[in-house]
Amino acid sequence: MAHRWKNDLTHADVTQKGLFLNRRQIIAGLGAGSILGAIGSRAMAQEGLEPNSYEEITSYNNYYEFGTGKEDPARHADALTTSPWSVKIDGLVDRPGDFSMEDILGKMSVEERIYRLRCVEAWSMVVPWNGFELADLLDMAGVQSSARYVAFETALRPEEMPGVAYKVLDWPYVEGLRLDEAMHPLTILATGIYGKPIPNQNGAPLRLVVPWKYGFKSIKSIVRITLTDTQPPTSWNKAGPGEYGFYSNVNPEVDHPRWSQATERMIGGGFFAKRQPTLMFNGYDEVASLYDGMDLTQNF
Ligand code: MTE
Repeated sequence: MAHRWKNDLTHADVTQKGLFLNRRQIIAGLGAGSILGAIGSRAMAQEGLEPNSYEEITSYNNYYEFGTGKEDPARHADALTTSPWSVKIDGLVDRPGDFSMEDILGKMSVEERIYRLRCVEAWSMVVPWNGFELADLLDMAGVQSSARYVAFETALRPEEMPGVAYKVLDWPYVEGLRLDEAMHPLTILATGIYGKPIPNQNGAPLRLVVPWKYGFKSIKSIVRITLTDTQPPTSWNKAGPGEYGFYSNVNPEVDHPRWSQATERMIGGGFFAKRQPTLMFNGYDEVASLYDGMDLTQNF
């Protein structure tokens, strides 16, 4: 664990980190295989975050492989066959291979993480995910010392995904993280929502969640994870390099060229609800030290 944290902490970092470690300790105290069983067994409360309803989380989605409308994924994603499913882990790892979801779930311990998801389109919702730390899966594969980045790829199934007939993006959807971002304990692979298996429209059976970055970094229905020494291409950056950067950390001070990122609309808040201020790193200040010395207004 220790290598994942840097020690230069501000007051805000300490507060957040204190909360986080506290939650980790609660988790550790419960231990594996205790009370509730697999999915959603280990609860992690996050102060001040009131989850959206299951209905809101699963009916207002972005998953362009099933169409660009917010209701398209809920309408069409049932067609995706999610079992059997396997994830190829390759590139700069000691133990590459094709891992079935059963293999993966057998080795990882699933816990609950309540995170705010902030879309680059300036809306947000709070989701009680069930998942495990990406770092645990990468440790299982044995990351080699030359690895610097992690590339992710979504399934591409034209027969099951009506949206890929349209070249809105260069399919398959691909994403990437720097290795230290991927290894950060906030970064998870989600397998559930509200203790139920993750619905197809939210990225079944396995999707990334990086809560301090705009939602498009949180790639859905992952079939491949590749460790590399060079920065991998990402779908939205390829589609609009002037609008979507590789890092895409939530930042209220860097506007999208076509709209402000200073505030966000909370899904479920109702039409007249006041917009809420967007927080730097979406409120997850503990990641700030990952970007020491980087100009976050330029390296967006
Ligand atoms: N992953 C894939 N494969 N395809 C997509 O279109 N949309 C992204 C991200 N992951 C997307 C994706 C965007 S823009 C957002 S905001 C989130 O998924 C939305 O996640 P949700 O539908 O679970 O809220």
